[in-house]
Amino acid sequence: MGENGGKSVGRLRVGVLASGRGSNLQAIIDSSLKGRIDVDVAVVVSDVEDAPALERARSAGIPAVHVPPGRFRTRLTPEAEQRYVEILDEHGVEVVVLAGFMRILHDSFLTRYAGRVVNVHPALLPSFPGLHGQRQALDYGVKWTGATVHFVDAGVDTGPVILQAVVPVMDGDTEETLSARILAQEHRIYPEALQLIAAGRLRMEGRLVTSTGGNGDAGGDGDAGGDAGGDAGAGEGSGT
Ligand code: GRF
Repeated sequence: MGENGGKSVGRLRVGVLASGRGSNLQAIIDSSLKGRIDVDVAVVVSDVEDAPALERARSAGIPAVHVPPGRFRTRLTPEAEQRYVEILDEHGVEVVVLAGFMRILHDSFLTRYAGRVVNVHPALLPSFPGLHGQRQALDYGVKWTGATVHFVDAGVDTGPVILQAVVPVMDGDTEETLSARILAQEHRIYPEALQLIAAGRLRMEGRLVTSTGGNGDAGGDGDAGGDAGGDAGAGEGSGT
C-alpha cells in the first residue's frame, strides 16, 4: 500500500463491521490486495470477541478491534456506538461496510455517516428482508433469488439498492446449498459496489442509484446476465 500520511493516494478507506465468519470481508480484502479495487480496509470492528472476521483481518495486517456491544441483544448501547465511531474516525474511515454485522445501528450513527454506510443482504430486496433471507426464499418457493448491496437507512434492509445479483433456486436446494450459491455472488458484487463508490461513479436521486461511466470496473464480468428468461447465470440485476 503506497501510504501517504496514513492515507493511500486516491484510495477509499473503509471500516468493516462484522459479527461472524467474515467471508465478505475476506473477499474485499482479497480484491484490495490484488489491486482490483481502489479500496483499503482501514480497520475491522466486531461486537463478537472471537469472530473469525477479526482473525481474518489480523492475518492481513489490518487493525482488528473487539468492542463489546453492551447490554442490548440486537443493538449497540449509545456508549458502545460512540466507541465504534471513535475507532472508525481514528482510522480515517470514509465508508462503513457492514459484512454480517448483526446489530441494528442507531440514527445517530447513520447521521454521522450519512449516505456512507453499506450492507450486503442474501436476497433480492425488497423481497425477504431481515434474518434468514435464503430460508425465506426457499419457504416462499421462488425460482430466483439473489444478493443485494445497498446503502443503509433507518429501516431494516430498506436502503437504496446499489447492485444486485440474480441466483436460481434449484429443485432440492437446502438452505446450505442456496446460501453457498448466493454467497459466491455476494463476494463478487460487494467489492464491485465498493469500487463504484471509490471511483465516484454512483449518483443518487431519491432512492434511485445509478452508476456513471468511467474506469472503475472491479474486474468482474460486469454483465447483466441472470435474467428471468431462463439464464441460470448470475449478474447485476440492472435491466433484468
Ligand atoms: C452474508 O450472508 C450476508 O449476506 C449477511 O450475513 C452473511 C455474512 O457472511 N448479511 P460473512 O460473515 O461475510 O461470511
